[in-house]
Amino acid sequence: MKKRLGPSERLFPMPCPLIVSGTLQEANLFAAAWVNVVSSTPPTVALGIRKTRHTFEYIQKTGDFSVNVAPTRLATQVDYCGLATGRNEDKWAGSGLHMQDADSISSPLVAECPYNLECVVKERVEVGDYMVVLAEIVESHADESILSEDGKTVDIEALDPLVYIAGSRQYRGLGPKVADAFKVGKSLREERVEAVPEMPATEAVPVAEDAAAELPDTAVSSEPVTDPTGVEAPAQTAGNDESLFE
Ligand SMILES: Cc1cc2nc3c(=O)[nH]c(=O)nc-3n(C[C@H](O)[C@H](O)[C@H](O)COP(=O)(O)O)c2cc1C
Repeated sequence: MKKRLGPSERLFPMPCPLIVSGTLQEANLFAAAWVNVVSSTPPTVALGIRKTRHTFEYIQKTGDFSVNVAPTRLATQVDYCGLATGRNEDKWAGSGLHMQDADSISSPLVAECPYNLECVVKERVEVGDYMVVLAEIVESHADESILSEDGKTVDIEALDPLVYIAGSRQYRGLGPKVADAFKVGKSLREERVEAVPEMPATEAVPVAEDAAAELPDTAVSSEPVTDPTGVEAPAQTAGNDESLFE
């Protein structure tokens, strides 16, 4: 039996990157769990930030920020950046982390974080005490040490990203691979189409069209899309949203 827990802001797990906003001369570090990619066309992140945060002032000033994925070995530094405020202390000195110049934004990157996104603010949506900042990802960086042999995709074990568990307030790493995404579920979809008894095989709706009907916002385009790692993904067709999530 399930127990009702009431309205909850907890989702499991959450990413826990370091957000940096400011300039190479003066920037602030901030731990964020309420951040994720919310669109791939254009590549966009949403960051939920309390309006009183010092970092929010920097974001308002510069109009940009970087998202820096921390490996599990930086858990102490990430936690510190989520406990201290830049109003009272220099979190760069306190954490021992270093700035690295970004390519397209004024806010620097965290040199010790091997995967980084450069984001330019596009919209702000006020949600109670928080501001949801929607920002376009204009560049991304991956240290060569975390790239797979093909040099294009991130080797998730090499990255070893830190994740946050709400409620129990824990930092964790990722467990082993469970299955291949966009593959393992196909067996169930085929079974479902085959299982419709009143539909003769010749009239069965192809799986791709079926999927398009369930995805109202799926764009039909012959233009190639670029995934967040900067690698060109195959052209999209209705119902084929796999590349959106690569
Ligand atoms: C694991 C973790 C995740 C956090 N996630 C968020 C978040 O998503 N949004 C937010 O407003 N504050 C979040 N915080 C709190 C801020 O990081 C914290 O208040 C920080 O000290 C603010 O720094 P600043 O005043 O220098 O900007 C988080 C803190 C921790 C420890």
